[in-house]
Parts: sequence; C-alpha cells; structure tokens
Amino acid sequence: MAFGEFCCIFVDCADCLRRIRWTWRLFWARWPGRSNARRRRPRKGFCPWCAKRSRSRWSTSRRGRGRGAPRGRGAPRGRGGAGGSNTVLEPHRHPGVFIAKGKEHMLVTKNLVPGESVYGEKRISIDGGVDGTKIEYRVWNPFRSKLAAGVLSGLDNIFIAPGKKVLYLGAASGTSVSHVADIVGPEGVVYAVEFSPRSGRDLITMAKKRTNVIPIVEDARLPNKYRMLISTVDVIFADVAQPDQARIVVHNAQSFLRENGHVVISIKASCIDSTAPPDVIFASELQKLKEGRFKPIEQVTLEPYERDHAMVTAQYRRHAS
Ligand SMILES: C[S@@+](CC[C@H](N)C(=O)[O-])C[C@H]1O[C@@H](n2cnc3c(N)ncnc32)[C@H](O)[C@@H]1O
Repeated sequence: MAFGEFCCIFVDCADCLRRIRWTWRLFWARWPGRSNARRRRPRKGFCPWCAKRSRSRWSTSRRGRGRGAPRGRGAPRGRGGAGGSNTVLEPHRHPGVFIAKGKEHMLVTKNLVPGESVYGEKRISIDGGVDGTKIEYRVWNPFRSKLAAGVLSGLDNIFIAPGKKVLYLGAASGTSVSHVADIVGPEGVVYAVEFSPRSGRDLITMAKKRTNVIPIVEDARLPNKYRMLISTVDVIFADVAQPDQARIVVHNAQSFLRENGHVVISIKASCIDSTAPPDVIFASELQKLKEGRFKPIEQVTLEPYERDHAMVTAQYRRHAS
C-alpha cells in the first residue's frame, strides 16, 4: 500500500483533514473499523473518505506544495520569482501594506530581507527601485495571519505603520511578526512575546535576520519579567488566544503603552467561552477593555478567514477621567 493511499490515520486529503478537525463526529461515523463505515477500495489519487479527487497534503506534483511548503486555504503556489510584467503594485490605505495586482490580487509587504522567505511564502519582485532595480515583496496570506485577515476584513486603521514601536503578544513562530516587521521597517521596532519555547526558537531564528524584531520568550501575563527589554510602545497587537486575554492586554498597556496609544486585538470566541454566542463574548471583552481605560474604536469579524473571530481596535486613555 502506497503511503497515503488508504490509512485511517494518514488521510491524504486536505479537504477531509480540515473537516475532520472541525467535525469529530464525521470522522468517527466514517471510521473504517465501524459497522456503518463505508468501506470502499481506495483508488489512487482519490480520497478514501469522500471519494473526491484528492488534493494531497504531501503531493509534490504542484510547485511549492511539498512537505514544509505552505498549506491550507490560500496557500501560495511557488516561491520567489518575478511578479510578471503584468503585476502592478498599489499602496494599500494602511501605510506599509501593498496590493500586488496581477492575475490575482495579493496583499504583500515589502521584504525587509530581500531574497529570504520566512515560512515558505511567495515572493515577488516588481520594478520600482532606484536605477531600474526591482523591489521584493512577500505575499501576506490572510488565512495564516489574523492581522492580514483584519486588513482584508476592512479595518479602517491598524495603527501599525512605518516607524512605529509595536508590542506583539502571542508571536508564535513569527509568521505574522515578520510582516509587521516589514511594515514598521528599519525605523520601527517589534517586541515579540511568545511563551512556548518551541515557537520561541523559530521566532529567535527569524529575528536574527530581521534586526527590528526583539524576540522575548516569556509569559505575557508577567510583563515585569521583560520590563527591562521594552521602551514605551505606540501599539499593542494581541493574539494570545487565552480566556484572560483582555486582562493580559490591560496589564501590558499599563506597563508599556503610551498615552493615546492603540491596541489591536484578535478575539477567538471559543477560547473565551465555547458555550456562549460569539457576539456576547465580543461584547463582554469590549466591556473589559473599557474598564481597563480603553476607548473602543472598531470591530470587524474575520470571516471567511477565521471562524468566530473578531478583531477589535481601541485607544488607551490612561489619564481620562
Ligand atoms: C493564535 S497563536 C498566535 C499566532 C500568531 N499571532 C500569528 O498570526 O502567526 C497564539 C500564540 O500565543 C501564545 N501564547 C498563549 N498564551 C501566551 C502567554 N500567556 N504569553 C505568551 N504567549 C502566549 C501561544 O503559545 C501561541 O503561539
């Protein structure tokens, strides 16, 4: 049996895997050992679960879709290369963010380290440098970055712009952090906090090349532990996906956010309470921010990029009465 042809664990179909992650019941009902399981002889290239032609997770037949290459919805195909003579670059209304308009429109950021991808994302070179040279941009995938999803979901202002100092809570391996570093550019700084040592290692590796990123492998609940590493910041971006995220944000704002600075927060409803309706949870998180001296500015949902997520922006009014 060829690897991935049929096996109850190594399902070789990205569509089914996604469904299985979301719907355990579906997976269980179709488990091959169960009496009601639909047993069928798997055909090569077809998913044994849904019998559709398999979009293999491991297939290398398509450029850039091998192991370790970007996966999932909207994963870019291929790596670097020219944007093509038809690709035109337009600035997005958010400074530091651009739209590459070619065969398809893509959100991109200007690569701070030309020639390098961070997580296998596609790079495109477009005319526009001095003396006819090209400038390299990295594709910013909204299915892999909540901030990109927030931009495409219509946030009026992300407050993260060239030259800004940003405190990023929940940096993970640095995928989105690297785009934030591109946006703030060499004049700006990104303090990236992540408490998982494993993700922290990747974050540190990424920061070796992006010198405007200061990786901090600490718990964001304990800002005193990294107080000596951070000066006052203009913006806090939070994506820690924890039930006490609002408290974490308020705590970090009290320590590091300048007066009238801003927060951009990704709220995952199921992380806070999986039983209550998302809208109720978003409202209660906003209330916690108000109590922490924030004035809410905007709220968007991250559909279709993320399910039951909202992105909220607010202004810090430390001295407001
Ligand atoms: C949803 S992921 C962040 C994804 C990331 N923002 C991105 O778009 O690439 C949440 C991350 O927050 C981290 N995290 C959760 N609680 C934390 C805490 N108290 N302190 C620091 N990091 C935390 C997790 O380890 C995880 O990597």
